[in-house]
Amino acid sequence: MSPFRASIRQIARKMETCEEWIELVRDLREPIAVGPPPADLHLRWAREQDLFAINALEGFVKETDFMAASLRRGDRCLVLEDEDGIQAFTWVTFRDFKLALWYTLALEAGECYLVYIFVHPYFAGRGVGSWLLGKLMIEMRDLGAVRMISGMYSNWHASFAMHTKLGFRIRRTLSQCRLLNIFPTPPKEVPEPVKASRE
Ligand SMILES: CC(C)(COP(=O)(O)OP(=O)(O)OC[C@H]1O[C@@H](n2cnc3c(N)ncnc32)[C@H](O)[C@@H]1OP(=O)(O)O)[C@@H](O)C(=O)NCCC(=O)NCCS
Repeated sequence: MSPFRASIRQIARKMETCEEWIELVRDLREPIAVGPPPADLHLRWAREQDLFAINALEGFVKETDFMAASLRRGDRCLVLEDEDGIQAFTWVTFRDFKLALWYTLALEAGECYLVYIFVHPYFAGRGVGSWLLGKLMIEMRDLGAVRMISGMYSNWHASFAMHTKLGFRIRRTLSQCRLLNIFPTPPKEVPEPVKASRE
């Protein structure tokens, strides 16, 4: 490569910020172990009238019409509540999911995608997220799904640890870069590291 092209490339790289998105998969035909339910929290499916509470809990999306339409199209949302209201939720879809400007996750028959899981910080670190995700996996398996896909940025350590604890494994890693920290470029698959040879 000419020195000119090399220096242009170097400048472009300096103006680029990149994030890694990890895509995980769990085979729902493998055993799913869930422990005892968290004390004082009651599990149920979300209804349309819950969507404002879910939205307020985490700022999940900007408006609830889109969420209501998604529920009507077959998305499912499990909530955990106590007398103060909804304390955790998890949302799953059976439809292709637009993750970014350039990237729509295409689901095959039998696959579902975990759109989000959230536990109120007051309940965090007490096994609530693992229990809720385990229950969702069982519900999806009982509805006929064979694989659950999930995804997260590589620095979402708690989420990654929770998923791997529940049997998810990495399917692939995508690198999404932005030029000048604004303009997204198409995501690239990050190749797996070459395993060290024993010879
Ligand atoms: C990710 C989240 C749902 C986990 O819920 P939780 O109820 O706190 O999780 P659990 O208590 O069941 O912990 C499950 C595992 O996650 C890991 N974990 C939990 N909190 C962690 C933390 N702060 N740092 C690192 N690992 C953590 C642990 O491995 C833990 O297993 P262990 O207790 O046996 O060691 C919760 O932290 C959350 O809502 N985060 C914000 C939203 C988010 O990131 N959602 C994920 C989108 S994909």
